[in-house]
Amino acid sequence: MKGKVLIVEDDQIQRELLKESLEEKGFKVISVSSAEEGKNSLEENPVDTVVTDVKLPGKSGIIFLKEIKEAYPEIEVIVITAFSDVEDAVEAIKAGAFHYITKPYDIDVLANLLSKCCELTQLKKSPSEKSFIFKSNAMEKLLSTVKIFAKSDAPILITGESGTGKEVIAKYIHKASERTGKFIPVNCTSIPENLFESELFGHEKGAFSGAIKAKPGLIEESDNGTLFLDEIGDLPLPLQTKLLRFLQEKEIRRIGSLNTKKVDVRIVAATNRDLEKTVKDGEFREDLFYRLNVLRVEIPPLRERKEDIVELVGFFVRKFSTKYKKTLTISNEALKKLAEYSFPGNVRELENIIHRAVLIAKETVKPEHFTLSTPEKKTEKESFSKPLPQLMEETEKELIKEVLEKTNYVQTKAAKLLGIDEKSLRYKRKKYEI
Ligand SMILES: Nc1ncnc2c1ncn2[C@@H]1O[C@H](COP(=O)(O)OP(=O)(O)OP(=O)(O)O)[C@@H](O)[C@H]1O
Ligand SMILES: [Mg+2]
Repeated sequence: MKGKVLIVEDDQIQRELLKESLEEKGFKVISVSSAEEGKNSLEENPVDTVVTDVKLPGKSGIIFLKEIKEAYPEIEVIVITAFSDVEDAVEAIKAGAFHYITKPYDIDVLANLLSKCCELTQLKKSPSEKSFIFKSNAMEKLLSTVKIFAKSDAPILITGESGTGKEVIAKYIHKASERTGKFIPVNCTSIPENLFESELFGHEKGAFSGAIKAKPGLIEESDNGTLFLDEIGDLPLPLQTKLLRFLQEKEIRRIGSLNTKKVDVRIVAATNRDLEKTVKDGEFREDLFYRLNVLRVEIPPLRERKEDIVELVGFFVRKFSTKYKKTLTISNEALKKLAEYSFPGNVRELENIIHRAVLIAKETVKPEHFTLSTPEKKTEKESFSKPLPQLMEETEKELIKEVLEKTNYVQTKAAKLLGIDEKSLRYKRKKYEI
C-alpha cells in the first residue's frame, strides 16, 4: 500500500476515474464531492494526503486546505486548479499546499507526487520509523529479494559498509515478516563480555551477586519476533560459542535456572566487516558463520548506486526543512557536487551533510554549504600527482627490493627473476641505495 488518499472533487465522472486509476496504482482511496464531506471523512478516516479541487460547491478548496493544515498539520495537500487560475495556485502554495496541478493533468505525475506526499506524512507521523528511499535498480532488486526473504524464518545476514542502511533493512525485514513479536536490536560490540550472557539469556533472582530480580534476556523478549544482532563480526569468540548453541537448540536457559524454554526467534545479523575473512583469520567461528549466512543481503555502497543520491537528497532536504520550519530548494550545482562525491560514510554521511546544509542555508542549498571529507576522485589524482619517470623509478626500486628479499639477496637469482643481468642489478642497487 502506497498510502491513503482523500479525493475531493465535485464532478462525479472525474472523481470516479481518479479513484479508480489511483487504486490501480496501489493507493487506498476515499472520495467525496465537497469540502464539508471531506472534513467529516477526515475525522473518522485519517489519510496521508488530500487531493482537492479548488472550485467546489460551498466551501472552496483553498479554504478547506487551510482548515486541514490547521487541524492536521501532518497531512499533505495537493490542489487541482483550472488551467487559467494562476492566482489560485499561488494562494494554495502560500497556504501550505505541497503542490498544485492544473487540469487536464497527467495521472502518472499526480501519482508520483502522491507517493512523495504519503511518504512524507508517514514520516512525520512516526519520526522514529524512517522510510526506505531508493531509485536505483540495484536497490529495487535488493528490496524485492528482501521481501521474499522476510517471509521465511531462516536467518538473514546483512553486509555492507558503514552507513549503507543495514539497520533500516533489518527493521524492514521485521515489518515485512508479519511476525507478531518485537524487533529487538542487540549491538554485539556495546555489551561487555561478562554481561553478554545474562543480557541475552536472562537470569533468575540470586543467580549472581547483583541479580536482585529475575530478568528475561533479549532472546526471550524477541520471542515470536526478530532478534537483530548488529556488528556480529565483532562478537568475541567465547560468546560466539554461546550464540551458536542457542541457534542449534532454539531454546534458552536463564542463568541460575534449571529449566530451558523454547523460543521462536528470527535472527537477522549485520556487519560491515568481511566475515569470510574473519573466518579465515580465525576470529569468527566457521560453523556460526554458516548458521547465520543462510540468506544473504549485500547492500552496495552509495557511490555504486548514484541514482539514489538525488532521491535521498530530496528526501533529507524535505525532512530537515520540515524539522526546522524552513522552505528550501537546492541548486543544481549543489546536486552535481553531491552526485560526484564518493560518500565514504554512505547514506549516514549524506544525511549529516544535508542536515548541516539545511541548518545554515538561507533560501537555497548551495555547494558552499557542504563540507565534504575527501575531494572526489582523490586516488586517481594522487596517482598522477608525480611525473611519470619518477613514478617508474619508484616502482622499479620497490620491485628490486622485493625480489632481493625473496632471494635472500642472492644476486644471481634476483637478476634472473628480474630479467636483467647482474651488472645492471649492481648498478641499480647503488643508484637506489638498496
Ligand atoms: N535508503 C535509505 N532511505 C532513507 N534513509 C536511509 C537509507 N539508508 C540509510 N538511511 C539512513 O542512514 C543512516 C544510517 O543507516 P543505518 O544505521 O541503517 O546504517 P548501517 O548500515 O547500520 O551503518 P553502521 O554499519 O554504521 O551501523 C540512518 O539514519 C538511516 O535512517
Ligand atoms: Mg548499524
